Amino acid sequence: MTSPVLHDHAKNIIERCREMARITDVPGETTRLFLSPATRDVHTLLLRWMREARLEGRVDDAGNVRAVRPATDRSAPRVLLFSHIDTVPNAGAFDGPLGVVLAIEAIAILADEQLPFAIEVIAFGEEEGIRFGFPFFGSMAVTGQVVPETVERRDSQGNSVAEALYEFGLRPQNIARSCALAPETFAALEVHIEQGPVLEAENLSLGIVEAIVGQSRFELTFTGQANHAGTTPMSLRHDALAAAAHWVTEVERYAANYQQLVATVGQLEVSPGAVNVVPGEARATLDVRHPKDESRHAAVANLLTKAELAAAQRGVRVSAKAMSKQAAVPMNRELTMALQQAAARAGHETHAMFSGAGHDAMILAPQVPTTMLFVRSPGGLSHHPEETVRVVDVEAALGTVLQFIHGLQPPGR
Ligand code: HGY
Ligand code: MN
Ligand code: MN
Repeated sequence: MTSPVLHDHAKNIIERCREMARITDVPGETTRLFLSPATRDVHTLLLRWMREARLEGRVDDAGNVRAVRPATDRSAPRVLLFSHIDTVPNAGAFDGPLGVVLAIEAIAILADEQLPFAIEVIAFGEEEGIRFGFPFFGSMAVTGQVVPETVERRDSQGNSVAEALYEFGLRPQNIARSCALAPETFAALEVHIEQGPVLEAENLSLGIVEAIVGQSRFELTFTGQANHAGTTPMSLRHDALAAAAHWVTEVERYAANYQQLVATVGQLEVSPGAVNVVPGEARATLDVRHPKDESRHAAVANLLTKAELAAAQRGVRVSAKAMSKQAAVPMNRELTMALQQAAARAGHETHAMFSGAGHDAMILAPQVPTTMLFVRSPGGLSHHPEETVRVVDVEAALGTVLQFIHGLQPPGR
């Protein structure tokens, strides 16, 4: 396919991502959490785009939007192209949607070309884990990992996952049946923005992901003693926020001195939260990641010990609740090589790298050979409204995906 044609398709992909980004629960920014009101409009838009690509889409009972481009032979093996449509608060337009929209565009380009396998597109409904505090619900549902306590997890309003699914018109009791990955699926590919600075530094459009780092998420509660800000001497205080703040700087210092470790306190809530009251409670989140699981576990243990020390120095108690943990996951070697060769056939040099961001690909990889294609993030910016992509890079990704599809050999062929 000539570059000018691919170029137009790449522009269409970017325009569609920006159109989807305008569907939001918070006017003026892109915020669309799992099963939020705006999500319904995104489903409608996606199902329309799928129809335009001659795909009959559906919403499964975990809130994933999916469609299958059949092969001539109904029992043919299947390839999965996927990413996610939920966002972080005040997000960009491409983290997730790029992979979904590009997959639909690639299928539209294939038109009625005969392939020896079917292609399924899945737009996972929940990857970020913002609303219910744990990530990957959509891909967990597809890989049979949703258990009763999963749908009992509650959001900050006290709604459970199950209640949110019912409210959306879905049936959590049918998840196993309506979401399961087709057993004939033999390969899976996620196209996603890099969300970091590496490809820009390498001056390359595309990265080939060899592994995805593991991640641990905690919620810590520092409990001190609320008291009068004017009458309580400094030596008699049990200031929960001072303890938490001390710990946050310790987290930063520890991670800055630990190769390949990242640790983030992304949320901090203080109560009672009044100018003239010594904080009685501070609730903080912790996100720890490292390519090696044993290093991540050691770092978590150290950081939780530092929290206890920061608290004890002030007569404050601290408790830590594990919100989610995900082991580091390698991508499938053969498929990753096939992807790298497809990029070369499409005329693009690539950079082999690991992903510091978590992705649905890490949930699928233990069940089906999976690989990931990264697209350069200008400025290395993501989880930010100015997150963007270049047409030339999306064009490179689209050309690579088409080469990947044309070069793929189903098992036993
Ligand atoms: O948090 C992450 O790594 C991803 O954006 N869900
Ligand atoms: Mn993402
Ligand atoms: Mn993200």
